[in-house]
Amino acid sequence: GAPVNADISALQEGQRLVLEWRGQPIWIVKRSKAVLDALPTLDGRLRDPKSENLDQQPDYVRKASPELRSIKPEISVLVGLCTHLGCSPEMAAEIKPEPYDPEWKGGYFCPCHKSRFDMAGRVFQGVPAPTNLVVPPHHYADDNTIVIG
Ligand code: FES
Repeated sequence: GAPVNADISALQEGQRLVLEWRGQPIWIVKRSKAVLDALPTLDGRLRDPKSENLDQQPDYVRKASPELRSIKPEISVLVGLCTHLGCSPEMAAEIKPEPYDPEWKGGYFCPCHKSRFDMAGRVFQGVPAPTNLVVPPHHYADDNTIVIG
């Protein structure tokens, strides 16, 4: 499939832009400083906090930040499909997923079998999804244009 351009000039903190690339949903999310600060505090509860599974993101993304999983800290780009059986997780920045988790700092919640991911798409321990959400290949054509693919 051809690369897809995303214009992120209007994207506000906490918002998610959804587009399609190769028949898959692609999410572009602008994360706040509070969200970014919370991510490292979750490492002990995650299966692959440092992105050691090399299949789940391009190498340049892992090198840029193995915990934030992004080229620019605030902008997260993910394939919006659960790594368990491919349902589309919900963004749960504010709603608390069931079962109740008092430590929930926001992230993605898959309604099919209750897998949870943080705001970097990193999977929590003890859920059916085996791996972090996929970061697709992408780059910045300019400050406000991301090319997916
Ligand atoms: Fe997401 Fe099963 S498809 S938890």
